[in-house]
Parts: sequence; structure tokens; C-alpha cells
Amino acid sequence: MGVAASHYQHFLDLKDVPKETLRHILDTAKLWKNRREGMSKGAVDEGAPLSGKTLAMVFEKSSTRTRISFEMAMQQLGGSSIILQGSSMQLGRGETIADTARVMSRYVDAIMLRANTHAAVEELAEEGEVPVINALTDRSHPCQLMADVLTLEEHLGPVQGKKIAWVGDGNNVATSLIEAAVQFDFSLTLGCPDNLMPETDVLNWAKAAGGDVRVVDNASDAVGGANAVFTDTWISMGDDRTGAKLKALEPFQVNDSLMAKAHNDAIFLHCLPAHRGEEVTNSVIDGPQSVVWDEAENRLHAQKAILAWCLGVI
Ligand code: CP
Ligand code: NVA
Repeated sequence: MGVAASHYQHFLDLKDVPKETLRHILDTAKLWKNRREGMSKGAVDEGAPLSGKTLAMVFEKSSTRTRISFEMAMQQLGGSSIILQGSSMQLGRGETIADTARVMSRYVDAIMLRANTHAAVEELAEEGEVPVINALTDRSHPCQLMADVLTLEEHLGPVQGKKIAWVGDGNNVATSLIEAAVQFDFSLTLGCPDNLMPETDVLNWAKAAGGDVRVVDNASDAVGGANAVFTDTWISMGDDRTGAKLKALEPFQVNDSLMAKAHNDAIFLHCLPAHRGEEVTNSVIDGPQSVVWDEAENRLHAQKAILAWCLGVI
């Protein structure tokens, strides 16, 4: 017999969650963030919405922001968390994901997984009996984009109809940005080298869903008139650092002259960690247009609402 919560939802990709639900999660994040003003960081929110609930976090890759923001999210919601490294679990010695999912479902109320492969997160969700949250895979990073949309709206107002640009590698964060463009109705142009374009499947999905998403092969066309410019590391975790890749990406560096092509009031976002001097210069990331520290903080606020939705509290 199962031990599932009476009502739960997985958070695997933005394209799988209805638009109205994503908006509800984001609005909850804003409300709860505002309500906490003046409280100390470890203080529990009024009503302790996740009292008695425990989140297990499994990391197959490194993390700073995701790990700390999820742990503080559970603390502020009145619940608790367990942090696990995949390599020190039996998972690292060949226990199957399915068996791991069944066992973990008997102990904890939700599982967050940062995985090498997207298939691992999907299998965990399929075989377990508790909500599963994708905390980055080789395919996508949906929690990051919820924080990013929250940040865009704090600085630019409603994101609907805004002109957003991505420059650099068409990677996992770019995939979630494409899904966010469709789900939150903004215009997105991605500038990527020919051989580092975003995955065809997500571009096809965006087209079929009527999204305003296009790809170009140079940085200037991507950022022209944009209200916000995004980039990310050129070498993602698990990727090979090759000279050819770095060379192809060189023209896509976000520097002062590229930012000057965006809208006068454009903001700069980066999920971090940054590789200063590669995808972004110090002058941009430390400059007045950068909102990267707000963006990092918003991981906490966005994920609190995601957790509450996954566990059926909102
Ligand atoms: N942006 C992000 O996910 O950061 P970490 O890898 O530090 O968790
Ligand atoms: N694209 C990066 C994001 C890190 C948060 C990576 O996958 O390493």
C-alpha cells in the first residue's frame, strides 16, 4: 500500500505545469517574500505552512544556491530537510532509481533531485510516491527560471510582452527560459553559435504552443532593444571544456559594448556561478544594470512557493 500524500504534484519542467498555476506560484512567492520583511532569515513564516514536512535533497552535481536556498526554504516554512550526495548513497553503488524512490517515499514528504540526466528525475517521479522537484538536469533548470521571472517582474513590472534576450550556450537554463517565455507570455530571442543552439524539441514545443521565441546566430541581433539580457556559463557541469567551444562562444561575451545595444534601462541576469572574464565581464556583473544578487535571493522565495504547491498547501 502506498504512503503518498493525499494531494501532491511534481515540479519537473515549466512546460508541464499549467500557465495559471505557474502564475499562482509566482504570486504566492511575491506575497510571502513581502510578508517576511524585517524578519530574521531563520524565523518561521506565520502559520508554518509546511510544519511536520520533510524534504530530502539529492545532489549528483555541485551546488551552492540550490542547496542553501532549499534548506532555508524548508526552515522558513516550518519544515525540515535532509541533504544527500548521490555518490554517498547506495544509488552511487548501483541501487536503482526506482528502488531508491520507493524507499525514500516511505521516509520523507518530498524529494528534490539535482541529476546528471533528466531521465533520472523523470524516473524518480514515476516510481516514487511523493512529489519530486527538478533542481537542475542536463535538460533544464525550472526552479531557476521561476526565480528569474520573479526578478524580472520586481525590476521591470509585468513580464508579459517584455523583450528578453539570451546570449551564449543553448544549455539547460536556456531550455527553461524558452519554456518560461511561452508560459509567462514574453518575447525571447536567443543568440547562440550555430553548433550550440538550444535543443530542437523545446524550440518545436515553443512554436507549437504559439510562443514568441526565435534564435539567431549572433549576440548583437539577440540583445537589440532588449529589456533584459541573460547569459550563463559557457561550460555547464558535465560538459567538456574544449578550446573549440570557448572559441565559438567568445563573440557572445556580455560586456559593456553588448549591453549598450540593449534597451537603456535593460537589466542583466545570470543564474550563477559566473565565470568572470568568460561569459560576462566584471564591469557588467558588478555594474548598475546587474540584478544577479536579487536573482540569487529569489531562488529562496520562488522555491518556497514551489514546495507549498507540490505539497498541496497552495
Ligand atoms: N544557479 C544555481 O543553480 O546555482 P548552484 O549551482 O550554486 O545551485
Ligand atoms: N548551466 C549551468 C547552470 C548552473 C547552475 C550548469 O548546468 O552547470
